[in-house]
Amino acid sequence: MRSFHATLKVLCCVVVVLGVFTPSLDAQLDPSFYRNTCPRVHSIVREVVREVSKKDPRMLASLIRLHFHDCFVQGCDASVLLNNTDTIVSEQQALPNNNSLRGLNVVNDIKTAVEAACPGVVSCADILTLASEISSVLGGGPDWKVPLGRRDSLTANQTLANENLPSPFSNVSVLKAAFLKQGLTTTDLVALSGAHTFGRAHCNFILNRLYNFSGTGRPDPSLDTTYLQQLRTQCPQGGPNNLVNFDVTTPDKFDKAYYSNLQVKKGLLQSDQVLFSTPGDTNPIVVKFNSDQKAFFDAFEASMIKMGNIDVLTGKKGEIRKHCNFVNKRTAELEIASVASEESSAEVMVSSY
Ligand code: HEM
Ligand SMILES: *[C@@H]1O[C@H](CO)[C@@H](O)[C@H](O)[C@H]1NC(C)=O
Ligand SMILES: *[C@@H]1O[C@H](CO)[C@@H](O)[C@H](O)[C@H]1NC(C)=O
Ligand SMILES: *[C@@H]1O[C@H](CO)[C@@H](O)[C@H](O)[C@H]1NC(C)=O
Ligand SMILES: *[C@@H]1O[C@H](CO)[C@@H](O)[C@H](O)[C@H]1NC(C)=O
Ligand SMILES: *[C@@H]1O[C@H](CO)[C@@H](O)[C@H](O)[C@H]1NC(C)=O
Repeated sequence: MRSFHATLKVLCCVVVVLGVFTPSLDAQLDPSFYRNTCPRVHSIVREVVREVSKKDPRMLASLIRLHFHDCFVQGCDASVLLNNTDTIVSEQQALPNNNSLRGLNVVNDIKTAVEAACPGVVSCADILTLASEISSVLGGGPDWKVPLGRRDSLTANQTLANENLPSPFSNVSVLKAAFLKQGLTTTDLVALSGAHTFGRAHCNFILNRLYNFSGTGRPDPSLDTTYLQQLRTQCPQGGPNNLVNFDVTTPDKFDKAYYSNLQVKKGLLQSDQVLFSTPGDTNPIVVKFNSDQKAFFDAFEASMIKMGNIDVLTGKKGEIRKHCNFVNKRTAELEIASVASEESSAEVMVSSY
């Protein structure tokens, strides 16, 4: 009996010691991560997003896309938010991002509001993740408990952004491979593509489908003819690079209309339409999500949580950025520079007396 207890004690010790010295093993994200350090973070983020979206409903879509473009490039670590400096080659100028990323200033406004309430605590990567869930809800989509505790990267990788972010001209096998590389399944691909139920795309990404598909001199045959005429009016050949709604039926609403559009050949991008029109395992998932909004919403929620878990930095990795566009070392340098310039302007004032 005595030795049994002794063994138990030893076992307990081993468990405690392991628990203390191997934080990386259980460095899991947790929806209540900020319970003690920033309990109001969700409502603070929500308030900023809600205000902005009253004037600019499209911003909900733009914020979700920002999170996606963060997670697919070295994980959900806010690398996409880092601006060019002498040590950072920003992902913002990678081909899939250049002139199409939106919401960077909104993220900065959210960060300012969060810092005012809980300075130095909430990562920019978590802000992007929270803003995505909130954007889904404000758009009419599902809500979920957002796992939190991500930290921000010290690096960005423009090359990797060009490599990992899927192209709108892709076929199903290329799309599947891009998602598989992130640990995401075919169901994740179809569910997450459902985010194209709102937001806009530039004409450049569909001109080939409208005028000369795969060098045939003809439009994409998987495009509805009425929809084709409508898109040609919005995107004239040789015209300006206009914006087009992703969803012809409910452009700013997060609903399952994306999937019904695909079934009537009204998917906007080639990478959208192929999910229905290419024979294979994506087609029945499109049919399922169109027949059952709850099935889509449940899958979207699960896939968003999966995407939000990609290669996250936790524990002592990375940092909590003070300013989302710069690593802290750089922010500190900028602060010193601005104090120095204030001092020198003070000197000028003094010397002008
Ligand atoms: C499956 C592969 C995907 C491809 C090829 C793709 C491609 C694109 C392209 C080309 C645009 C238009 C950008 C522009 O013209 O400015 C766009 C916009 C958008 N994408 Fe995707 N995307 C994909 C997956 C996703 C995923 C997984 C999400 C989020 C979960 C997402 C969310 C969005 C949203 C919401 C917009 C509209 C943004 C706005 O209006 O500012 N996309 N996407
Ligand atoms: C970061 O770069 C973006 C353009 O990519 C620009 O709009 C923004 O003002 C920059 N942020 C800062 C703080 O300089
Ligand atoms: C990004 O867009 C700007 C402005 O349109 C352009 O001058 C620049 O060459 C583009 N950068 C890349 C890397 O494509
Ligand atoms: C960026 O990603 C590429 C892979 O595409 C890799 O070869 C390179 O080492 C990465 N650069 C940095 C600075 O991590
Ligand atoms: C998909 O596109 C890739 C790259 O363009 C190509 O190599 C591949 O053959 C295509 N697959 C199918 C099934 O069309
Ligand atoms: C369509 O594209 C192909 C290949 O790029 C080109 O050879 C052909 O001239 C184009 N056709 C038309 C009608 O523009």
